[in-house]
Amino acid sequence: MENSGITYEVCCLEETDSTNADVRKAAMEQGGHGLVVTAESQRAGRGRKGRTWESAAGENLYFSLLLFPEFAQEKAAMLTLTAALAVAEAIRECGIDAGIKWPNDVVAGGRKLCGILTELGWRQDGRYFVIVGIGINVNQQQFGAEIQDTAASLFLITQKKQERELLLAAVLDKFAVYYERFSRCGDFSCMRTEYEALLVNRGKEVRVLDPKGEWIGTALGINDLGELLVCSEQGCVEAVYAGEVSVRGIYGYV
Ligand code: BTN
Repeated sequence: MENSGITYEVCCLEETDSTNADVRKAAMEQGGHGLVVTAESQRAGRGRKGRTWESAAGENLYFSLLLFPEFAQEKAAMLTLTAALAVAEAIRECGIDAGIKWPNDVVAGGRKLCGILTELGWRQDGRYFVIVGIGINVNQQQFGAEIQDTAASLFLITQKKQERELLLAAVLDKFAVYYERFSRCGDFSCMRTEYEALLVNRGKEVRVLDPKGEWIGTALGINDLGELLVCSEQGCVEAVYAGEVSVRGIYGYV
């Protein structure tokens, strides 16, 4: 599968523990830039912050993408926002009003449709690689008790079964375009407009969950590093970095 930026090699598995783990293993062996591992189900799907990712069989998309970027590894965290933008735009093409909850949850109607887990690794020769793991709730009709109030699927929104292969192809195509832009610009400046257009937090009150102390402010947008700009109740604008901090809506998840 080829496009302007990345030549993808897609490997489809029936069942696995975690596609992120598969891609990490491949990266240490022969796996190259653009390898994509998809699975019909995962026994141990991993989410952010050590959580698990519910991975029911045959209904959703679970896939991980391997990248060997040319840019410095400090910039790699921004790829997670790049992936969110690609996914949100691809889902919008299915007629769903999807947006992005900073930094990288794709949501619709206040519920989460997609999660992204970006991890770094180093090969023995010292070269770093990035694994972008993406889980999209496509045709799932019911969720476990823990997430049933915050999760949604494309099916539950449109009442139509969606073609997972077409959605996967659209995400990969869009990601390649934005990846090429990101690599060229070296930061998020070349896609800030597109990202902010879909940022559901923009102009809204958010609770900033900073390990040093929670605070409330209004989200203004992002800067060129992909940090969320939040205006505090005292009127100071702070750039919030995704590595340490997450945000919630004042009245709920978004
Ligand atoms: C999140 O917690 O929001 C991130 C969830 C990421 C889930 C995907 S599913 C494919 C890939 N493999 C994993 O084990 N996790 C990611």
